Amino acid sequence: MFSFLSRQRPGSASINGIRIDLRPRETLLQAALRQGIDFPHSCRVGGCASCKCRLVTGRVKELTETGYILSREELDAGFILACQSLPRGDVCIEVDLARQAARRQVRGRVVLQERLTHDINRLVVQLEDSLAYKAGQYADLTLDSLPLQPRSFSFASPVQADAQVSFFIRKVPGGLFTGLVSEQPLLGQGVTVEGPLGDFHLRPSEAPLLLIAGGSGLAPILAILQDALAQGVERSATLLFGARERRDLYAMEHISAIAARWRAPFRFVPVLSEADADASWQGERGLVAAQIPALAEPDAHAYLCGPPAMIDSALVLLRKAGVPGEHIHADRFTTRKDLLQVTA
Ligand SMILES: Cc1cc2nc3c(=O)[nH]c(=O)nc-3n(C[C@H](O)[C@H](O)[C@H](O)COP(=O)(O)OP(=O)(O)OC[C@H]3O[C@@H](n4cnc5c(N)ncnc54)[C@H](O)[C@@H]3O)c2cc1C
Ligand code: FES
Repeated sequence: MFSFLSRQRPGSASINGIRIDLRPRETLLQAALRQGIDFPHSCRVGGCASCKCRLVTGRVKELTETGYILSREELDAGFILACQSLPRGDVCIEVDLARQAARRQVRGRVVLQERLTHDINRLVVQLEDSLAYKAGQYADLTLDSLPLQPRSFSFASPVQADAQVSFFIRKVPGGLFTGLVSEQPLLGQGVTVEGPLGDFHLRPSEAPLLLIAGGSGLAPILAILQDALAQGVERSATLLFGARERRDLYAMEHISAIAARWRAPFRFVPVLSEADADASWQGERGLVAAQIPALAEPDAHAYLCGPPAMIDSALVLLRKAGVPGEHIHADRFTTRKDLLQVTA
């Protein structure tokens, strides 16, 4: 899959050995797409890491702080985001083009819109054709009533035989897409689902699982757990679920059903960060990441999903607890606001 050229003319890029020319102020991604390379990408603004690739030789100027989305290990290994990289002279890039080959657009229709909490809705889409993806991955959704405005959402269940896909969609303040999902009836509306995207999925191992979800970040974690159950996985699992108040907890029966069928010890720890006024809450209080020092075993494999701030603090605590970076997998639910804050 990976290969590269060692000699190039100035002003050119070698992508898996295919040489392309570069124009001034053009990102690597733009140059690759202009010249017909099916380079993996999604948001084009540095928010999803779909375009991550390895800079083998040469230099690039980065338009945004990539440390926000790439792990320390990826940065150390020379990974960059093609959509945020302006080549400075000749460069040589390696990228897994198979990621893009698997991606396609499938049309569908909303068949269920269900309120899960005051700000999270579940959308179920009946696809016209099945879409293969790994539990944990995400898709770009475009609503017919909001054309040319794709937004990223994780599949909330593994691939279903009836080609239905579901998403947990949290309303972000001032959000165009998520506001529509929260406030408008969408039943029957046409949707384009483009995917699969991302590399958040369960890696084979016997190691204990530590799964940490914040808010709608529970979607890919539940998909992973359901899939693991179906595959007969026998690994002890701890699921930490962070929410603000009791009213923000959802899918509790779903989690109980998974716990009841899990083939190894399963611990579920809901954590509320804003439950001061809730004297009857018997569970954990505070930030979900604060549970890590007590619960993380150094040999655990961690899967984290949720808002960027939660992921960042969890990563620090996991490393402190002795969990090596290669055993930590995270999906940040970035919005355009997060990206603007980073680039400001
Ligand atoms: C890989 C991935 C997977 C995800 N999975 C999920 C999921 O399963 N469930 C989920 O709920 N979310 C998920 N997200 C997050 C989700 O994609 C965002 O919440 C969504 O894109 C917001 O879209 P929107 O149109 O509602 O908001 P937008 O209109 O895009 O705005 C988002 C925020 O940015 C602000 N904003 C927008 N433009 C500007 C501007 N010019 N200046 C200042 N502020 C601005 C808005 O006011 C708002 O606060 C995921 C994100 C990623 C990257
Ligand atoms: S396409 Fe580059 S980060 Fe999303």
